[in-house]
Amino acid sequence: MADFHNKVVYQIYPKSFKDANGDGLGDLAGVIEKLDYLAELGVDYLWLTPFFLSPQNDNGYDVADYRRIDPDFGTMAEVEKLIDEAGKRGMGLMFDMVFNHTSTEHEWFQRALAGEEKYQDYYIFREGEPDQPPTNWVSKFGGPAWAYVPQLGKWYLHLFDKTQADLNWENPQVRRELQEVLKFWKEKGIKGFRFDVVNLISKPAEFADDVEGDGRRFYTDGRHVHEFLQEMVRESGIEGMVTVGEMSSTTLENCIRYSCPQDKELSMVFNFHHLKVDYKDGDKWQLMPPDIKSLKELFAKWQEGMQAGQGWNATFWCNHDQPRAVSRFGEDGAWREKSAKMLGACIHLMRGTPYIYQGEEIGMTNAGYASIDQYRDVESLNYYEILCREGKSSAEALAILAARSRDNGRTPMQWSAEAYAGFSSHEPWLLPPDNYKKINVAAARQDQDSIFAFYQQLIRLRHEREIVAEGKISFLDRENEDVIAYERTLGADRLVVLCNFCGREVSLREKSLQDYQAEGLHRVLGNYEDVGQALRPYEVVVLANS
Ligand code: NOJ
Repeated sequence: MADFHNKVVYQIYPKSFKDANGDGLGDLAGVIEKLDYLAELGVDYLWLTPFFLSPQNDNGYDVADYRRIDPDFGTMAEVEKLIDEAGKRGMGLMFDMVFNHTSTEHEWFQRALAGEEKYQDYYIFREGEPDQPPTNWVSKFGGPAWAYVPQLGKWYLHLFDKTQADLNWENPQVRRELQEVLKFWKEKGIKGFRFDVVNLISKPAEFADDVEGDGRRFYTDGRHVHEFLQEMVRESGIEGMVTVGEMSSTTLENCIRYSCPQDKELSMVFNFHHLKVDYKDGDKWQLMPPDIKSLKELFAKWQEGMQAGQGWNATFWCNHDQPRAVSRFGEDGAWREKSAKMLGACIHLMRGTPYIYQGEEIGMTNAGYASIDQYRDVESLNYYEILCREGKSSAEALAILAARSRDNGRTPMQWSAEAYAGFSSHEPWLLPPDNYKKINVAAARQDQDSIFAFYQQLIRLRHEREIVAEGKISFLDRENEDVIAYERTLGADRLVVLCNFCGREVSLREKSLQDYQAEGLHRVLGNYEDVGQALRPYEVVVLANS
């Protein structure tokens, strides 16, 4: 058994987790302060998003030095202490490697700008006229994917912000530099890595206009990506560490290859297809209620497909780029607690390694901002402009951001009902939603029936029952538009998970709850006290025969 199958990962966005020094920004000392809380929750690994030296144009995903700590977050001594203190509590650290691009403030890029050809070959520079970018590709944050450098007479590629220049992985020297970074952090004693948009690293031999789309088909799951990953793992000696790759617009076939043990690439992969079921015509900036039938079909495709190919999913609803799941797929008013528990069970009992994003375990909601001044995220600010330019009123553009902005997932962790949610003694860089007085860790810990207590049980189930970690999965009641249901099996053991995604009572179609009980299955977990006749609003019931 691979030793990440029965583990649970907790994602920390340090800037919003806990501010220990009272400057309004979360920091590493804040993470250390809260390790006992994380141990109480029961998670195994802590993935920290980047805290390396950075101008913070994309909140640390624009790295200026992979080996230095941004002073806003703390010091190397604090990183070492964090690794040590987490280890004492049985938790391993995973650091976030942003290897598709660097900040334009990175020394390599600065030397490229100064005319050093060696470093120009670290990036993707192309000669060209100032009014004619090499291709028509679009940046993921809006606008062209190329920026012009007048003093060089060249354009450079940036799939994200123009201060995030794409690295040239075709250059073996670049690959060696990055391997050294991995060795450096491995020696510090961390246990794993998360690789940012790592399926975009291999660019095409020729750069051409995309007549069908925004250019992504030319560089997504690119021609050398599997080779590059195998080499990276082999040469940096990180085989055996837990690794997860973030895969943008990827395919099942590629994800099997990224994560099947025999290919020696990564332990597991994130894909985002299930988080597009509320994008109208595939466009994040057009609102639509989530299509639960498609959600179920996507889960079935990826769960059963990865199983058939021996790949491994990282399962998740939330991260720092996504709105809060309870506001998006559940109901964040009267049914908040029930729907947050249902969503948690739905993800945690699937085949894969579950990730909890800070605050999810207490049912934190979207931010509820009503003014553009409250937003900080570069993507949100860019798209606000783009939407207004396209003819939307400010109110319409704000309604879209209220549902879609990445800042929804970045509001400060709600620790208590005190000022600024107990996150800081100073006004935070991003304001918490008003509901922090009710939704907070201190309140959750007083309540034996809290979402927090439910997440503790989910983690325990994975640790204690082999079927959760290793069982086969198959989907049930597939035609039901409101229910996501699946069965896990391991030898004679069975575990059935039935989730109602709507606010009304719903009957199962294939077999009733009573049929399952008649087969010898009994309730092991749920968000109602007993097993009813049908699934009640946002109910989850978990049944097992042992
Ligand atoms: C994915 C990260 O999760 C996101 O926050 C970041 O903006 C992009 N990659 C670019 O690094």
